[in-house]
Amino acid sequence: MKHLPGPHNKMFSHFNTLLDFISQQVKWHKKDLDHNNPRDYIDAFLTEMENHKESDVGFTETNLAMCSLDLFLAGTETTSTTLLWALVFLIKNPDIQDKVQAEIDRVIRQNRQPTMADRPNLPYTDAVIHEIQRMANIVPLNGVRMAAKDTTLGGYFIPKGTSVMPILTSVLFDKTEWETPDTFNPGHFLDAEGRFVKREALLAFSAGKRVCLGEGLAKMELFLFLVALLQKFSFFVPDGVELSTEGVTGITRVPHPFKVCATAR
Ligand code: HEM
Repeated sequence: MKHLPGPHNKMFSHFNTLLDFISQQVKWHKKDLDHNNPRDYIDAFLTEMENHKESDVGFTETNLAMCSLDLFLAGTETTSTTLLWALVFLIKNPDIQDKVQAEIDRVIRQNRQPTMADRPNLPYTDAVIHEIQRMANIVPLNGVRMAAKDTTLGGYFIPKGTSVMPILTSVLFDKTEWETPDTFNPGHFLDAEGRFVKREALLAFSAGKRVCLGEGLAKMELFLFLVALLQKFSFFVPDGVELSTEGVTGITRVPHPFKVCATAR
């Protein structure tokens, strides 16, 4: 890509700026590192570097910088983009926003913040968050992988070395899996009694050995942030403004920029 002219070339200098930032952080961490009291990921990694000085298992400073960047890149925009989609779908479906707020008011009320212990008591909210993740489809193409050996899958021969793009859109909108694949419908995750039900076809985090490393963290963030937001605010757009659910697809699929009104409840 660096041989082609165009604005994407800024990517390389931006990447170096990020690497410099991480290197600076590592330098500061080393100054007052206490192996017995790791403060964060960088401290823990530096301790492992010390423990594996003699072996060649990958605990190097370059890997520390790359892995720290990985966590930032994979871990920030994904969650914030999903929250943007949450606003789009809840604004487009005000009756669903009302139902979530009614459930939050019944279970948590207004005088304390939500915790993860509340999740089993908020099945409708939980279903809405899962449906947001399905419709948001923020990583439509998934990570590109390569066949490690000759493989036959679903009757197709995939020779060793072939690039494979396991498109998540196909399963998130599969007509044989979802009752109303193209409509925002929290009922996909609720049984007849209104209890939350898991669905195998919700593969927003992919599957298998390379499944999203941050799935647990992301789910907690989505639940806590969204419940806290809806507990305190109602979201809408001015009359006549119509939000688009089309999205702009790059590595992630983000909503078109939009302005939102929030009123305190
Ligand atoms: C709503 C939020 C998120 C979604 C939808 C999401 C989705 C994904 C997907 C689809 C993959 C590709 C898996 C594959 O190649 O099969 C992935 C990989 C990854 N995610 Fe996430 N992710 C989210 C949040 C996070 C967070 C919060 C973190 C970490 C703090 C994170 C860290 C990673 C890492 C490190 C990988 C690469 C794993 C590997 O290649 O082995 N993600 N994620």
